[in-house]
Amino acid sequence: MNKKIIKIQKKKGKIKIVCLTAYSKSIAKILDNYVDIILVGDSMANVLYGHKNTHKISLENIIQHTLSVKMGVKKSLLVADMPIGSYSNPKIALKNAKTILKKTGCDAIKIESNKQNYKIIDFIVRKKIPVMGHIGFTPQFKKKFKIEGQSAKERNKLIKEAKFIEKAGAFSIVLECLSANSAAAITKKLKIPTIGIGSSLYCDGQILVTDDMLGISGFYPKFVKKYVNLDRIIEKAVKKYSREVKLNKFPKKNNFLDGSKRRT
Ligand code: KIV
Repeated sequence: MNKKIIKIQKKKGKIKIVCLTAYSKSIAKILDNYVDIILVGDSMANVLYGHKNTHKISLENIIQHTLSVKMGVKKSLLVADMPIGSYSNPKIALKNAKTILKKTGCDAIKIESNKQNYKIIDFIVRKKIPVMGHIGFTPQFKKKFKIEGQSAKERNKLIKEAKFIEKAGAFSIVLECLSANSAAAITKKLKIPTIGIGSSLYCDGQILVTDDMLGISGFYPKFVKKYVNLDRIIEKAVKKYSREVKLNKFPKKNNFLDGSKRRT
């Protein structure tokens, strides 16, 4: 198995696993020193392309952004999301997963659960493609947002689903918007690490959409902590640039190319 995956799995119950999303080289390069997993998520649909949901993201979109991210990654495990429709049966899933891995050089793919695609995970894993599972609020299959696993009945269903995904061979599983009790129960019952988003701290690791935690996505549900208001910082810089251009204060002589170093 991939050495990075083994290292991540060994952290379960001992050291928290740190994950973030990236869609480009420049961001990935910054994240790479501080995270275990970088996910090229289909959340790019909302964050980058302004779509209402993740359904219009194509395999080609994922490939192009993963290629860009890969250029900035040296240490982290690089996981690419399988977009909706790209894993409708085992053969199609395998073909598309192979294409993503071959074209981008990423380490693994992520598949959202619809409670029926365990066989697809099993089939891909048997062909030696590492798969990350994803349960709870899975935007490819659920329209209406709801905190999952609030009743004992729902919690038991989620535990069952997570166990099926583990049995199918997933190396890790994302728990999205689960009640704290459900996240804790699943984390305890599984041998593979659980990565939470909006699912309390009772998970083996955490993931956030990077643009959300940087404050540039405009989408900040309760489970997101904004670590910086980057939108304000960018606005300040752009405002200053605009003013300086208009006032002939930029470029200055030291920005002139003759006599100063050229950018390669
Ligand atoms: O698409 C994505 O970014 C994701 C994370 C939110 C887990 O699936």
